[in-house]
Amino acid sequence: MAFPPSFIDELIARNPIEDVVGQYVSLKRSGGNLFGLCPFHGEKTASFSVAPDKGIYYCFGCHKGGGAVNFMMEVEGLSYPDAVRALAKRAGMQVPEDEQYQSRYRQQERLWALHKEAARFFHTQLYAPNGKEALEYALGRGMPKSTLTTFGVGYAPDSWDALVKEMQAKGYTQQELIDSGLVTVSRKNGNIFDRFRDRLMFPIIDVRGNVIGFGGRIMNNKDPNAAKYLNSPETLIFNKRKNLFGLNMAKKSKLGYLILVEGYMDAIALHQYGFDCAVASLGTSLTEEHAALLSRYTEQLYLIYDGDEAGQRAAQRAIPMLEKAGIQIKVLRMRDAKDPDEFLKKFGADRFKILLEQSSNRVEYQLNAIRAKYDLREDDQKIRYVQEAAELICTLGSFVKREVYGGRVAESAGISAEAMKLEVDKAYKRRIAKEKKQQEKIDLAPARALQPKERSIRYDNMKSALAEEDVIAQILREPAMLEHCKHLAGSQFSVPLLGKVYDQLVIRYGSGMEVSPAVLEDLSAEETSHITGIYHRRQSPVNENAFRDCVKIILAEQQGRAVSSDDDLLALRNKLKESKGTKV
Ligand code: CTP
Ligand code: MN
Repeated sequence: MAFPPSFIDELIARNPIEDVVGQYVSLKRSGGNLFGLCPFHGEKTASFSVAPDKGIYYCFGCHKGGGAVNFMMEVEGLSYPDAVRALAKRAGMQVPEDEQYQSRYRQQERLWALHKEAARFFHTQLYAPNGKEALEYALGRGMPKSTLTTFGVGYAPDSWDALVKEMQAKGYTQQELIDSGLVTVSRKNGNIFDRFRDRLMFPIIDVRGNVIGFGGRIMNNKDPNAAKYLNSPETLIFNKRKNLFGLNMAKKSKLGYLILVEGYMDAIALHQYGFDCAVASLGTSLTEEHAALLSRYTEQLYLIYDGDEAGQRAAQRAIPMLEKAGIQIKVLRMRDAKDPDEFLKKFGADRFKILLEQSSNRVEYQLNAIRAKYDLREDDQKIRYVQEAAELICTLGSFVKREVYGGRVAESAGISAEAMKLEVDKAYKRRIAKEKKQQEKIDLAPARALQPKERSIRYDNMKSALAEEDVIAQILREPAMLEHCKHLAGSQFSVPLLGKVYDQLVIRYGSGMEVSPAVLEDLSAEETSHITGIYHRRQSPVNENAFRDCVKIILAEQQGRAVSSDDDLLALRNKLKESKGTKV
């Protein structure tokens, strides 16, 4: 996946960070740097900074940061090589493709093509004699032919090898079919057979228009033991946590908002009734990746989960994730129908529109959910209702909001507004006290507080890790510091990520190339953010003696590790000797 470093340097030089970021964020100059509203989390004051001289951005709010490549990865949801390609295209540069990457990309392209062919095959099967029953089922569920065409709905025939044969005839290999997830391998003899049989097929299409997987619905619950929906497994091109059904179409909607529902059929029905902004998650609960993806296309989202308990619980889980991604949410609870599909068919689009207009914001929704838990005719339950509602209300940032919602709860509980206000104040104090306690705990456990915010990165040896951070920060500020650590190698670092970065910097410095957080390669977006964060946090001026001390610490700690593993070895040997001794 590595591109030649000289190519990366030119790519960075020809894509100034302020121009790349400027396409997405409006930036204002303040001193040497530029500031704007962070595109990665909702905020009202600008904590997102761009440093043109270093070619990097950093958000002091959410701690995301990196160079132009990393920015494209984050903002467009691209892989590292795809982000490099996007920037190369922007600057009119030719990408020198590396073998391994090329083959991986070719493999992806084959799987996309295979899925497209499969979707075509399933769609024609719907109109073949064998698909008669499926077509009737689809029409009977209120999907006219136009909808079947728009969504590419199809039918997987009741056969063990219809798709296998069709795809092999088109030149796809057994391995490619296995990689696509559209076939299953027999444990007995290793033969492959169709995964989807006798199912109505819904192609899942990503935002770039590639068919990446399928959802297959059983018809008329023929087999009571079979799952109602069967979805493609995770493959090189399909990740349930990162894709949503219907977003390829909803992203073009002119309605200015998105509607998130649970089921494929719900999303399709909504499109059919004019709500062309509907998307559905893929048989999993909503993830943070989904929320981030949605936030790229809208600021306003209606959350409509099924009226049953599972649906309502899923909605409660989704709310904080969507809010964290900076999306304004309205929550709609289905009434008089189990899901949007059923509602539209019963009552039509106009009634649905009214439902949308009446939908509550998330505070109203959550207050209603709290209220539903208690029987307000009982005094003790009424008190618990007021207390729980107060806990929610005290988290609201604005005085007016606390006043309005507090007033509503007071009314429903039959208490005075003043009494409610006292309850909210009490809840607020409790919360602050709790937070303070938690903060104290963190302060008392400094090692834990120093752990990286990025969850995938852990420091096992804090002493060494902090020295390693310092070494990296100082080199990024003054690459000539590398002259003082000739005997240090990345493999001696306790944190593999920092060692890897160090090695890259050594190579770059050695061949006279750019050294900055903007040019790091082969790191995840999270890892680049972590390095950029270190660079920003560790501002102390470059100091040779301090630098040498850090190098010493790293080497000493590494020695310690080596010694202790030697000790382990010795102990093991002695044990072996002992056990042999007793046996003989
Ligand atoms: N789902 C799934 N596997 C199942 C059941 C459901 O993956 N065994 C997912 C599907 O994405 C489905 C969604 O959960 O679309 C909602 O499930 P459900 O409410 O049961 O389905 P509906 O959309 O109402 O399906 P239908 O109207 O076809 O009965
Ligand atoms: Mn349904």
